[in-house]
Amino acid sequence: MPRRHHAPHRYCTPVGENCPAARTADFSGLAPNSLTLALPVSFVGRRELRRPMATDCRLKAMEADRYAVTTLRSWRATDAGALALDLEGATALVGIAEDGSVRLRAQAGAELPPAPEPALGREPWCPVRAEPRARDDGGVRIAHEGPRGQARVEIEREPFTIRVLERAGGVVAVLDELGFADGGGARIGYEVRPAERFFGFGEKRGGLDKRGEHLRMRNRDPERDPRDPRYLSIPFFLSLISGEAVHRARGIMLEAFGPSRFDVAAERADRVRLETEADGIDVTIFPGPTPASVLRRFTARVGRQPVPPLWALGHHQSRWSYASEAEVRALAEEIRARRIPTDAIHLDIDYMDGYRVFSWHPKRFPDPKRLASELAEDGFRVVTIIDPGVKVDGSWSVYRDGCEREVFCRRDDGEPFSLRVWPGESALPDFNREEVRSWWGEQHRALVEAGVAGIWNDMNEPAGWAREIRVGRNFVPIARQNVSRLVQSDPGDPGLRVPHERVRNLYGYQECRATRGFLERARPGRRPFLLTRSGYTGIQRFAAVWTGDNKSRWSHLRESIPMLLNLSLSGVAFCGADIGGFAFSCTPELYARWIQLGALYPFARTHSMWLARRQEPWRFGARVEAIARAALELRMRLLPYLYGLFCEAEETGAPVWRPLFFEFPDDPASAAVEDQLMLGPSLLVAPVVERGAREREVYLPPGRWMAWHDDAQYVGPRRVRVAAPLERLPLFARAGSIVPMQSPILHVGEAPQEPCILQVIPGADGAATLLEDDGESTAYRSGALARTPLRLWHRAGGRLRLELGRRQGSYRIPQRPLRVLVRACPPPVGVYLNGARLEACDGLPGYAARGGRLHLRFVDGGHGYSLEVDPAP
Ligand code: GLC
Repeated sequence: MPRRHHAPHRYCTPVGENCPAARTADFSGLAPNSLTLALPVSFVGRRELRRPMATDCRLKAMEADRYAVTTLRSWRATDAGALALDLEGATALVGIAEDGSVRLRAQAGAELPPAPEPALGREPWCPVRAEPRARDDGGVRIAHEGPRGQARVEIEREPFTIRVLERAGGVVAVLDELGFADGGGARIGYEVRPAERFFGFGEKRGGLDKRGEHLRMRNRDPERDPRDPRYLSIPFFLSLISGEAVHRARGIMLEAFGPSRFDVAAERADRVRLETEADGIDVTIFPGPTPASVLRRFTARVGRQPVPPLWALGHHQSRWSYASEAEVRALAEEIRARRIPTDAIHLDIDYMDGYRVFSWHPKRFPDPKRLASELAEDGFRVVTIIDPGVKVDGSWSVYRDGCEREVFCRRDDGEPFSLRVWPGESALPDFNREEVRSWWGEQHRALVEAGVAGIWNDMNEPAGWAREIRVGRNFVPIARQNVSRLVQSDPGDPGLRVPHERVRNLYGYQECRATRGFLERARPGRRPFLLTRSGYTGIQRFAAVWTGDNKSRWSHLRESIPMLLNLSLSGVAFCGADIGGFAFSCTPELYARWIQLGALYPFARTHSMWLARRQEPWRFGARVEAIARAALELRMRLLPYLYGLFCEAEETGAPVWRPLFFEFPDDPASAAVEDQLMLGPSLLVAPVVERGAREREVYLPPGRWMAWHDDAQYVGPRRVRVAAPLERLPLFARAGSIVPMQSPILHVGEAPQEPCILQVIPGADGAATLLEDDGESTAYRSGALARTPLRLWHRAGGRLRLELGRRQGSYRIPQRPLRVLVRACPPPVGVYLNGARLEACDGLPGYAARGGRLHLRFVDGGHGYSLEVDPAP
């Protein structure tokens, strides 16, 4: 058996209950985690400090009324096409984009802060040229109507109000309560409907609908105060008004690199308020009418999740830590011997030498290149963790080089800044500067050359602590990090310095931007894989997101559903939670239920903490091992479908995991379902998340449904109680679906025996597109993506017609056997391929009717085919 490596003071989370000594440590009297920014009046560093942010990160309610803007003084059209507004004591810019979204930027004083797009590496925002028209009340109106969207904006003079309307007059949102606080923060509000629900907000705990909550955006490790905020901030949300006859979705994005706060109809059930702490307010309203159209517009603006390399969609096996070559090899061998489908092995911090990033431990990992190539032969990719903190160690070349190039952040008095992380005192690169990003990227070269396939960015909120004490082999952090004196370059103007707090939420985003940029340069034409814990709006452009340190508890399994759904609705299509839970020990039953659901997470990784019971799928006995194998086999069988969903996410912004209302926006009951999800448009997943449960109630939205395991038919809307023995995850397919699948494989390098199986769920008409390519290059962006349009007609009497259109795109697929599997299909009297009657035989073409299913096989050359099935009368 592999032996776990032990080393002093390695094994402890920064603070928290997972560390036995931490539970008894007395934290009273220590600096609380409130980071009041008391900046010095004069700054003696090399660069000038931009306007200080005299705010408190605890986000006291602002006294905005004192500054409430009540009057529009004058307006003018800008050259770019927006409206510049001169308000009492403030300045604003309002414009409509081509897609009908409306943006307001406002700040106290006579000047707006610079546009945030260059800081984010995002496309500039372009308003349309809308001719302003004066209103009789002294206000102004602009309107736009185009093929991609339309909007009308009415600005009322007093009280100052911005009405965003559809051209036909329907109200999208009425923004009011604009106010400004002393330190540059601002507030805005708008009225909401009683039946309106609120989703998104990035990675949050709790339920799916955030109505009634106060939410905060400030990236941090939530270990000691688990609720809010968390590692990653995406100040965007989507609301849905669903009623009998009306449905409307709208999205609101706040751009704020520093802390912000949302009152989601908590103080008043009919109002939502957004507050920032610096740089005024910058909000965009995305019109619907459907959740899908909101997401399409929002992700077009902030960037979409690029299609990951196919291997990254397989199962990842991780642990803190697989700490030696021998241990990793033994793990790989065992995974294959036990036939557990897995594509990647993650190396946590112990692969390093004294936790120096970009190092390998010379004894435990003497030859990483050989290890990676051996693993690659067996179909495994290696992913290594990289934390941003660089050990302060004059003998460590990365640190020395970083100092020489001045890449590290400093304090406001110009002195070097450091915080304590795994390696001890660590310096933080200032990723807001382009040259620092490229320096950081370059540090990965040796990893890439050693054959590391993916990078895992952790602790990048940034997380760390101020002091610790030794407790035997471990250590216990005894004081929270204090970043109040930390300054960084202004991301939009690197010649200036700003308090870190003001741009804090960008730290992880900029690190991932650096890493991805390098991986793209180092392996041109190949898709990188990057995983991150922290991030900001648009992080999906660079990385997949996992939701950090969860626990092996039923409640954490349960809450991974709304958490990942809301993250998905915030633009992050490639997301997952640690399967089995990170901290504490998982029970066999919990692991079984977790892997069943986790195998269908967009990102599927098992990970656990060093203190916890080992969590490889076979650690829980033969029964659970078989359950895990079956769950991961299902993922591999569904890989063609999953892959298509990722292609769709990049093309349209529709997430892979979708709440029911995303597919059924007209159905009010769907909006209330928090413990089920749609995996794409076709599969409804109703996981078991209660200990001991062997059945559960499932809500089936309107339409016909089929139980995946036994083809039982249901007509929604209805609630059904279904059996869920430990071996079964309740899964339903929507009638009219065509689900592309393949026969099971252990990793993506293995050729499936049957590469293309189209599972057809009769009972309704339907359409889908089969999307295929090489799974690793970026050639799909220039047309090398094979598209096969699929159409299904379900006719009276159960007659069925399936059309596979001619394959499009320049990606070549050699001739191959293709199987159409029609579920819930009684033995037919006639089966036709391109009009010719087929024989019931094993040949190609041929068909077989078995167990209430029809299997029809033929050679697919991509030329377009029609299939017809006549049922017995
Ligand atoms: C953090 C990460 C966790 C990792 C650990 C050690 O707690 O969230 O996933 O295992 O650090 O690197």
